[in-house]
Amino acid sequence: MSKLVFAANWKMHLGPGQAREFMAEFLARSGPRRDRELWFFPSAIAVETVASSTAHRSDILIGAQNVYWEPKGAFTGELSVAMAKEAGATGALVGHSERRHVFGESIEETALKLRALVEAEMTPVLCVGEKIEEREAGATIPVVERQLEALEGLDVATIERIPIAYEPVWAIGTGKTATPRDAAEVHNAIRSWLVAKGVAPDSVRILYGGSVKTDNVSSLVSDPEIDGVLVGGASLDPVSWAEIVNADAD
Ligand code: PGA
Repeated sequence: MSKLVFAANWKMHLGPGQAREFMAEFLARSGPRRDRELWFFPSAIAVETVASSTAHRSDILIGAQNVYWEPKGAFTGELSVAMAKEAGATGALVGHSERRHVFGESIEETALKLRALVEAEMTPVLCVGEKIEEREAGATIPVVERQLEALEGLDVATIERIPIAYEPVWAIGTGKTATPRDAAEVHNAIRSWLVAKGVAPDSVRILYGGSVKTDNVSSLVSDPEIDGVLVGGASLDPVSWAEIVNADAD
């Protein structure tokens, strides 16, 4: 049985000082579990703090929220893959809906970031998801499939180790969660797309994200199609995050 993943996306919250306080409180409340992996995506400036305060916990992995594909140069404000790695990250989110829709990141740019991470032997977590108007137009699956094309050209063994996070845009930070059934339907379509590329059905992990909280996490992670969750708002408080990562799963 593969481990359930509980991933925290802190977005533009918690600098190094607050991150240190968070980790002290969280680690005191939540010990390692053999059936779970915890991933943290802190702000770039807090990656090192979170990585060093969790270095003794092999169940915890740290990632950046975003990276740039060029190795170095005159790119004011950007973070290279090597810098993220040096700070203690072993992966990064790519294609988060806020990158796509607030910062205008294209599918091609997402693909370049994904490749730069793969080349550095880091784990990209590819985020995909439709906007409300796309869902209402019945275009959810085609939109998600188009976003999956960032994986095109990679070999099967590489694709198999890239987790996908399905995050419907209309559910992010809105309090509206997809039902486990809605999420499972899209997860199933993602898995079928990957299988058509030659990927073994159980090798890819597909997380759900969008308004996951203490009171809905159990029903989501109990669904066999959902391999874990990517959580924004409810991951910012160490008490609620400890409750979420220890939620029951059938
Ligand atoms: P949310 O964010 O849990 O606050 O909806 C999820 C995400 O953007 O990853």
